[in-house]
Amino acid sequence: MGKREWWQDGVIYQIYPRSFMDSNGDGVGDLEGIRQRLDHLAWLGIDAVWLSPIQPSPMADFGYDVSDYCDVEPLFGSLDDFDRLQAEAGERGIRLILDWVPNHSSDRHPWFQESRSGRASPKRDWYVWRDPQSGGGPPNNWQSVFGGGAWEWDEASGQFYLHSFLKEQPDLNWRNPEVARAMHDTLRFWLDRGVGGFRIDVIHKCAKDPELRDNPPAPGDNPGYLGQEHLHDENHPDIEDLLRGIRRVLDEYDERMTVGEVYIMDPREAARYYLAGEGLHLAFNFSFLRAPWSAEAFRRETEAFEAALPSNCWPDLVLSNHDVPRHASRYDDPTLGEARSRVAAAMLLTLRGTPFLYYGEEIGMRNVAIPENRIQDPVGINIHPAVGRDGERTPMQWEPTPGAGFGSTDPWLPTAPDADVRNVALQRNDPDSLLHFYRALIELRRATPALHRGDYRSLDSVDGVFAYERSAPGSRALVALNFSDGERRVRLPAGSIAGGLRSEPRAELPEHADEEIHLAPSEAIVLVVD
Ligand code: NOJ
Repeated sequence: MGKREWWQDGVIYQIYPRSFMDSNGDGVGDLEGIRQRLDHLAWLGIDAVWLSPIQPSPMADFGYDVSDYCDVEPLFGSLDDFDRLQAEAGERGIRLILDWVPNHSSDRHPWFQESRSGRASPKRDWYVWRDPQSGGGPPNNWQSVFGGGAWEWDEASGQFYLHSFLKEQPDLNWRNPEVARAMHDTLRFWLDRGVGGFRIDVIHKCAKDPELRDNPPAPGDNPGYLGQEHLHDENHPDIEDLLRGIRRVLDEYDERMTVGEVYIMDPREAARYYLAGEGLHLAFNFSFLRAPWSAEAFRRETEAFEAALPSNCWPDLVLSNHDVPRHASRYDDPTLGEARSRVAAAMLLTLRGTPFLYYGEEIGMRNVAIPENRIQDPVGINIHPAVGRDGERTPMQWEPTPGAGFGSTDPWLPTAPDADVRNVALQRNDPDSLLHFYRALIELRRATPALHRGDYRSLDSVDGVFAYERSAPGSRALVALNFSDGERRVRLPAGSIAGGLRSEPRAELPEHADEEIHLAPSEAIVLVVD
């Protein structure tokens, strides 16, 4: 590993801007709201904030349908608000990472408006237009991730256009060099403004089969998108050129990064997007989003990603985001739920890799049940309420007051019913809270080279316990995570203890690492050893 970069040693915090803090009471969060809450982020100790899309958007997919890549959505504020937020975050040592959505724009983007104006439009080829098949049907069998076919008929020009997501999200044609150039310029726009980098939306979708061949059916009898093997509508080998092009733009600037949403569950495929150091700086390792609550599962997933990653590349860790139910809900349990959140936090912040936190996980926010008449997410509307993503996007819980300190009493999504007892203010006042545990873990991670940059080695342990060692020159840490519902006695390698943390409030650290340590059900211990 060469020079260490801030995005390797640091901790990144994802904000869903609609839901973090509403400064003007219109029911939707905004940039000024985020600015007002910067002290929370600084106190927590994070290094960068990833903002889900803030660019102008008709909000068909809540920002993931961009109608201008180089401005700020008025609901969220203005470019001036952005600059102010970035400056004040910078004063606290916090960088901003923007979401960049290259696979598709909004259908209201001027590029698409121009493209759909007729077959002779100079921007016709900026999107993927095709004639119908001889019987009049769509060009192939590709399906939209969000339900229904992936082709929309355009009566006026007599062709179909491709949309891997909603019909309001037409796919850009990255095979056209003008598109690549224009999109690269949108990166430069924000890089010139000083952003730390980009989270790149569904990057694996940007290169598709140029012949647009049909996908074969997948085993099983799932309908629609899940009923196909995605052989031709994503992950085409030509993605490499595209990744190199993006990387070249980033390399025009110092200290910038990309983290790609490579929604491919095979770690070897996801790891390929690093192009051994010439592609993405990070590719999300999503395997933890699907792992059951088991020591073995997390050990297996950790090692699969470690094994897949080129030696000069750096992993990352993520347990929650705006697309999956929050992990406090996924792993909830009537008696051990809170303790499990602590084990999860200890794992996220001590394994090898850049941790990504999702807003609210630091106070153990759960998914919120959304009444049918309040559903907003197109996935919940088009596919099924049960798979809708609104439940993980509800307003941040700041205070035990009506509206939970979010800034509006009638927010765009309902506030969690437990917001009066689970919120930042109460947990700030309680040194035994999950919030304080997150903060202590982040502080320990920062102070301990083994934890923020060290190697990883798995340790043999007893059933139900995931144990590992992290080591860097002059720095060593030992971690044991009890995933089981019972007590466990573990022994760790020898070492004299220089510090550490236990997830059980006020539990004492042992005197020596290799003495028998009693772990309570769902307890984590992190030991810094000499
Ligand atoms: C992935 C994003 O994370 C998700 O929220 C969005 O709906 C799709 N990409 C489409 O952009």
